[in-house]
Amino acid sequence: MSELVLEVKSLKVYFNASAGIIKTLDGVSFDLHGGEVFGLVGESGSGKTLTALSVLDLIYPPGKIVSGNILFGGTELLNIDTRQLRKIRGSKIAMVFQEPSSAFNPVFTIGYQIVESIRVHQEKNVSDARTIALRFLRKVHISDPLRVYDSYPHQLSGGTKQRAMIAMALVNSPEILILDEPTTALDVTIQAQVLELLKEIIGRDKMATLFISHDFGVIAKMCDRVGVMYKGKIVETGDVDAILGSPKDPYTITLIESVKALSC
Ligand SMILES: Nc1ncnc2c1ncn2[C@@H]1O[C@H](COP(=O)(O)OP(=O)(O)O)[C@@H](O)[C@H]1O
Ligand SMILES: [Mg+2]
Repeated sequence: MSELVLEVKSLKVYFNASAGIIKTLDGVSFDLHGGEVFGLVGESGSGKTLTALSVLDLIYPPGKIVSGNILFGGTELLNIDTRQLRKIRGSKIAMVFQEPSSAFNPVFTIGYQIVESIRVHQEKNVSDARTIALRFLRKVHISDPLRVYDSYPHQLSGGTKQRAMIAMALVNSPEILILDEPTTALDVTIQAQVLELLKEIIGRDKMATLFISHDFGVIAKMCDRVGVMYKGKIVETGDVDAILGSPKDPYTITLIESVKALSC
């Protein structure tokens, strides 16, 4: 297998609640190799998003990373200084969130936000950054990039907004792409189109990708390996085909059966 780009080891994230400590992530470990798509699957509340946010150090009080390691190309991200981390976040590791509406700032145009993201990480003037932004809007198959560039988020459909979000995640050529339920908020027909787009992009650029979904059907379509999450732990990890063929953990079995029942 190709080189390790991300290692998450025994990650624990706790929340301080009035009722006491909640162990939301209770020792999560997985690896991501160059060029592979690793899936995290599990029911809502199992800790998938918190795992992704931990990688970008975006856990805020009352939540806290209490122990573990997150190694990016061998560098420990959990005790890196803020400036270094900011350089990595959004450029070397980019994330697409479930809700495109909450990821874009409503008061700025899409173009402005993509240009800003380019200029934070690359030394480009506005005109060159605009050219790059338009190129990436075309790359995600937006047919009218100029209109989208000048639009405010609320003026776009959910599908177009999510394509623009994917374009923004790609503009700095990240080494790791994190996709957190990237199609869950979209209409079913649009979901399929955006999944196709993601498959095309990941396949073409051979990007190491962490793909998060509650839907084993989507994971099976998109991922090489998968970790099954249940109550803040990964209960089973392996090749998607192997796990689909003979799941070992009782929770994995239930999850796969529910997908099979739906597709009957
Ligand atoms: N701000 C918070 N305060 C308390 N608990 C939280 C907070 N954010 C998330 N959690 C808890 O952490 C758990 C995992 O959440 P999350 O990672 O968002 O799950 P998933 O993405 O798998 O649906 C959930 O049980 C959720 O209730
Ligand atoms: Mg989530």
